[in-house]
Amino acid sequence: MRTQVAIIGAGPAGLMLGQMLHRAGVDHVIVERQSADYVMSRIRAGILEQTTVDLLHEVGVGARLAQEALPHDELTLAFAGTKHTFSLHQLTGGKRVWAYGQTEVTKDLMDARAACGRPTVYEATDVSLHDLDGDGPATVRYTHQGVTQELQADFVAGCDGFHGVARKSMPSGVLKEFEKVYPFGWLGVLADVPPVSPHAIIYGNSALGFSLCSLRSMTRSRYYVQCPMSDRVEDWSDARFWAELKARVDPHTAEGIVTGPSIEKSIAPLRSFVAEPMRWGKLFLAGDAAHIVPPTGAKGLNLAASDVRMLGQALISHFVDKSDAGIKHYSAIALRRIWRTERFSWWLTSLMHKFPDTEGFGQRVQEAELDYLVNSPAAATTLAENYVGLPIESL
Ligand code: APR
Ligand code: PHB
Repeated sequence: MRTQVAIIGAGPAGLMLGQMLHRAGVDHVIVERQSADYVMSRIRAGILEQTTVDLLHEVGVGARLAQEALPHDELTLAFAGTKHTFSLHQLTGGKRVWAYGQTEVTKDLMDARAACGRPTVYEATDVSLHDLDGDGPATVRYTHQGVTQELQADFVAGCDGFHGVARKSMPSGVLKEFEKVYPFGWLGVLADVPPVSPHAIIYGNSALGFSLCSLRSMTRSRYYVQCPMSDRVEDWSDARFWAELKARVDPHTAEGIVTGPSIEKSIAPLRSFVAEPMRWGKLFLAGDAAHIVPPTGAKGLNLAASDVRMLGQALISHFVDKSDAGIKHYSAIALRRIWRTERFSWWLTSLMHKFPDTEGFGQRVQEAELDYLVNSPAAATTLAENYVGLPIESL
């Protein structure tokens, strides 16, 4: 099979890129290791920046989002027993974020993918990439239903997540990796109960550790508490989780939390990671294949969307406008926004979590910084402009 772009991975990055290319008439194939049902079942964060919402509208998958996403004009930080609300709207000149689960984004993208009729190969095993730096086309080899297949493409877009094959296909002398692993995880619970704070996420700093009150809809809540990575889900009964969450938020929030049986409970590690460069020969990386942020601030999906906007533009310019400027500059320009967002996610993580090595002094310094944020319009503006999402440079 011959195509213009082989997209590896049908997560949000791969599906968004497919939709952009489809609308510009660029021929492409998506090759995904898992089944469609498996991809759909993954539960992840649920806050969209305006630029992500704009991209979803532009690629024609904004209809349900427009109906169901909940606007958040505010952001709340809770510490030392008190809640402090920041008006994103006022601090950024009218910007906001939207609460809409990544599962819903994936569903909308998959529905659009099925309707557009372009090929998607699910359950492709042993995916390998070849001829990435030669003159001829690149080759993607994979096994599907027991048969080895080959796909020839002008370019390969590695949208295959942190554990994918694309990044690993770059020569080790070319690739530089930067990583920070945090000494704790997040225990997340999903429950069909009304959210305690429907119009603003509450990020909580307490001497017991971090907490987060989020939501998926007016009837479904998502809550998290910081926990040691050595904990197992079985250690956390629902009763223990709710008690711990309530102990970590301010008393007013604690009183308003409606508890109920969990419908999902999991522990996730926190990591910052960046791979450079994001292009080698005919291979481009986008999304989690190139970078990971800790979930504090919910930047993972938004960063994947901004990569895709730039990469999609670059590929469309190559095929439609016959201009290679975007292809040449994609890696450098995407990495600027990625590092700024990495910085913000690391900063918010450092501000809000209990670190085993900093103890009481660390806690006091965090409280001082939070106090500064609450009392300095300059500091609050910095928080808000990063939280709503930095602008995307065009290539
Ligand atoms: N071959 C084909 N597909 C692969 C391979 C492979 N070797 N390895 C992984 N994949 C698929 C995965 O099964 C997954 O469906 O690539 C997809 C990558 O999707 P995500 O991990 O969701 O990454 P991305 O699309 O970059 O999404 C970025 O969304 O999923 C969240 O945490 C993520 O918030 C981040 C954002
Ligand atoms: C979520 O709703 O899952 C969520 C919200 C905000 C975050 C992280 C996760 O910063």
